Amino acid sequence: MMDGTCVSKRTGIIVGVIGIILLCIVAVTFYFIGASISEPKCENKIVPTGSPEVVITSKSSTSPLKSHTDGRLPSIITPILYKIEMFPYIYGNNSNLFFFSGKMELKFLCRENTRIITLNINKLNITEDSMFVRNVDNGAIDVKFFEIDTKWQFLIIHLDEPLIKNTEYIVGMSFTGPLNMDYTGLYLSAFPHRTVNKYVAATQFSPTDARKAFPCLDEPDFKAEFEITIIRRPDMISLSNMPKLATNPRGTMYVADVYERTPRMSTYLVAMAVGDFVSKTIDAREGLQYTSWAGYETINKTDHVLLFGSQVLSFFEKYFGSTFPLPKQDILAVPETSVGAMENWGLIIYKETNILYDETEFSLDNLRNAIIATSHELAHQWFGNLVTQDWWSNLFLKEGFAVYFSDVGIDNIYPEWQFMDQFAVRIMHKVFHTDGLLTSHPVHKSLRDVTEIRQVFDLISYEKGGCIIRMLNFILGDRDFQNGLQRYINALQYENADYNDLWREIEPQPLSYYHPPGVKAVMDTWILQKNYPVVTISQKKPGLIQFKQERFVNNPVGLENDTEVSPFGYVWKIPLTYTTSDKPRFETSYKDIIWMEDKKLLIFDRELQNLTEPGNWIVANLKQWGYYRVNYEEKIWSNLIGQFKKDHTIIHKVNRAQIINDLFSLTKAELVPLRLSLSVFEYLRNEEEYVPWLAALKEIQYINMFLKNMPTHAQYQTIIKTMIWPRYSYLQSNKTNLTMEESWLRSRMYELASQMDMKICLEDSERLFTDWKSYNYTIDVNIRSTVLCSALKNTSESDWRFVLESYNTTNNINEKMNYLQALTCPKDQTLINLLFDIIKDPFTVKGSDVVTTMTWLAQNYDVNIVWTFLKDNWQYFLDYFSESLFLLSSLVNGVTTPFTTDSQLKDLENFIKTTPDVGTAAQTLNQAVENTRSKVKWIKDNEVTINEWISESINNINY
Ligand SMILES: *[C@@H]1O[C@H](CO)[C@@H](O)[C@H](O)[C@H]1NC(C)=O
Ligand SMILES: *[C@@H]1O[C@H](CO)[C@@H](O)[C@H](O)[C@H]1NC(C)=O
Ligand SMILES: *[C@@H]1O[C@H](CO)[C@@H](O)[C@H](O)[C@H]1NC(C)=O
Ligand SMILES: *[C@@H]1O[C@H](CO)[C@@H](O)[C@H](O)[C@H]1NC(C)=O
Ligand SMILES: [Zn+2]
Repeated sequence: MMDGTCVSKRTGIIVGVIGIILLCIVAVTFYFIGASISEPKCENKIVPTGSPEVVITSKSSTSPLKSHTDGRLPSIITPILYKIEMFPYIYGNNSNLFFFSGKMELKFLCRENTRIITLNINKLNITEDSMFVRNVDNGAIDVKFFEIDTKWQFLIIHLDEPLIKNTEYIVGMSFTGPLNMDYTGLYLSAFPHRTVNKYVAATQFSPTDARKAFPCLDEPDFKAEFEITIIRRPDMISLSNMPKLATNPRGTMYVADVYERTPRMSTYLVAMAVGDFVSKTIDAREGLQYTSWAGYETINKTDHVLLFGSQVLSFFEKYFGSTFPLPKQDILAVPETSVGAMENWGLIIYKETNILYDETEFSLDNLRNAIIATSHELAHQWFGNLVTQDWWSNLFLKEGFAVYFSDVGIDNIYPEWQFMDQFAVRIMHKVFHTDGLLTSHPVHKSLRDVTEIRQVFDLISYEKGGCIIRMLNFILGDRDFQNGLQRYINALQYENADYNDLWREIEPQPLSYYHPPGVKAVMDTWILQKNYPVVTISQKKPGLIQFKQERFVNNPVGLENDTEVSPFGYVWKIPLTYTTSDKPRFETSYKDIIWMEDKKLLIFDRELQNLTEPGNWIVANLKQWGYYRVNYEEKIWSNLIGQFKKDHTIIHKVNRAQIINDLFSLTKAELVPLRLSLSVFEYLRNEEEYVPWLAALKEIQYINMFLKNMPTHAQYQTIIKTMIWPRYSYLQSNKTNLTMEESWLRSRMYELASQMDMKICLEDSERLFTDWKSYNYTIDVNIRSTVLCSALKNTSESDWRFVLESYNTTNNINEKMNYLQALTCPKDQTLINLLFDIIKDPFTVKGSDVVTTMTWLAQNYDVNIVWTFLKDNWQYFLDYFSESLFLLSSLVNGVTTPFTTDSQLKDLENFIKTTPDVGTAAQTLNQAVENTRSKVKWIKDNEVTINEWISESINNINY
């Protein structure tokens, strides 16, 4: 599953008289297959499972609930086969009347004698008298009563007589549920510009919302087979994990699509969809059809991911030595979802913005994102779907692999994109920051109870997980890594795995001289303790070099108050590599690793005899394969920076990016003086590569954030403009003839130039804007969002309204985002106030885009005003995003990221203290406090240095 572009929108429910009549009509046209279940009728009483806390129904008894402490299901029954029938009612124009009805039958094996069956359930109304339990040869067992525990989302069924150990039974029932635009469970989505067949029903079950569609054992290690039937109107399409077996008439108005039985799988991977879709199919290989589904308006824009996906799917089959087990793989574009994409087995569901691409309307950034999403979800077909984490604590076993293999897959199909060289700067540098917080957590996170599940869907499980898997690849070498993964998949397919299963299966056989002292011994140190090490290199005597590892945190102040102990005492087993100025060699393999298992290591190396003399250097962690930072004694740093200025190309581009990122991070942690870090900027005039520029742009923007409201800001802008000018002008004048990396860099450079108020950039932007507005000329799509934003900076209300109108009328989702971003750019408060009103109107800005808009506003406009708006509307946002996995915390993160002052810190702390309900944002708010505190201290300590550097640099500029 991918986050990022996620959303949730809650629609109010207005049920009128017409609604109730309609419900009756629908209910009688809906027939059940099972003989033992009666048709649901309108007058049936239904038992709501939404509230209150505990509902005890019918048939006497009020036995108290068993006390559960963690919300996990008891292991008394083992599911075998679910038969699910679903009827989403999405017809007509009034979506408030929509709902779904369904039926489930579960065959299970009883593992202990019991009178109680516990399933998961959420927000479903069980149809009265529909529930039954029987043994497989039909002898009924009376249900005494059932209770619903809304806290743990349990349906607890009490039986008259005990079920017998090692015997198979069937439990079944009918139910109805709400169909809202909350994007969880079975949800409603809509094609925004359609009047006919506008609505779509689709599913998002991960991690715990299958129970919102049908009662089930909704934990990943309760695997079972599924037979799914979906009822639809004949002019619609239905889809599920498996190919369709048959379509049967249902009454006069509907048909039922019956799907083939799935392999053994987890509930969170079940998928269904109904809508008016069209498709395109290609063969991924013989016997494996790869089909994209979307609205007829956009289907042609799925061509790129369709072709790429079919190629990468065959690549993964070969690499993992494991044939994709289903007869087909569908990808479906839904207008709106709560996650970027979800890897449901055989039916990957994407949010439209993450799948569509064509050359004329979409930027190359859009292309990259669609390709990443595709590769990521296809990697899950093995990691997650075939071999599944036993519990959410082991989420990295699917997400870490998906993050890493996404890039491996892309590199195989598009080697010219140089994706493997971007991994460190794109993924590792991003998570290094989060994992440097005291509020970070180990990759394998024990969960106190099920309410914590959503918290593990974060950068640590995803991006750190990916970095750890990449490091494992390096440690083992390509051949043993691949062989080990093949053994792991083969041994655990259709089953569940713990991290120990991975370490055991991937251990090279036989052990070679080069290999680590045991995969488990090494890897446990990386997944069972939070944070990561910094290795400091210093010269003890000529030729004698000391390597020392310490736990790295972004802000050492407060470290003494961190009471969390680590099983390894914050010591890691580090695969060290290095090269020297004497014989620079950055290509490296597992054979070059020096294992650092303790806090200190001394190495005698003749090549390093004159290390501290000018011109000599050492660089450790080649190509940043290892998940650690490197620090050097100051003389070595100076020599390294000297090399950057003399000829930076001697040092590999991944390590140039690493050095920039390490330097500034160490500076923020007060381990390296800021003056040293700032001096590295001076070489940038000569830097041509995308990867080091990405690292540098981040630091340039970091300092810009502090200076934004300071008197030296204009001078800073001038300095940055001269640094970026050579590359900027090259990319602008050669824009029609660039490599993929250069094109991506051009978009970033143009953005930065606009931020720095580069005159030519602003003038170009205004000209392009006017040509577009007046003559309808197209704006170059790779810089379009920046052009629009620049043009609106000091705009008239009429230009702003012109863009707003374009936002409201365009059918192109990508254009919509460009316009929305531009609307956040003016400096005029009256326009921003208009935008605030628009943000709170769910009909204008879709739920997902609210977060993005607020984040842009906080960056482009006055963060204090945006933060006040968030606080004033906290309850609104809390309700609005209550169902979503990522959104509320993304919102908080987006708005608080530009905080740099003491008063902002106090205000944030006060907000946490005085807000009764912070929902899923609790962890993010604490991280925001920690981040802001570091920044406040940092600018206090460094303001003078920055200003000194600015006045010196400005004097050195040759105009
Ligand atoms: C579930 O039951 C509650 C209470 O009777 C009712 O308000 C709600 O509309 C029902 N929902 C569905 C989808 O039937
Ligand atoms: C998609 O492509 C097909 C075949 O090239 C064409 O007939 C159809 O009109 C296109 N659809 C749209 C919406 O452009
Ligand atoms: C650490 O805890 C002590 C005692 O509670 C407190 O005085 C100090 O301010 C804390 N330090 C930080 C950085 O939070
Ligand atoms: C170190 O410097 C000395 C004196 O300049 C020189 O003789 C020697 O070859 C150098 N050693 C290395 C490994 O460069
Ligand atoms: Zn994923």
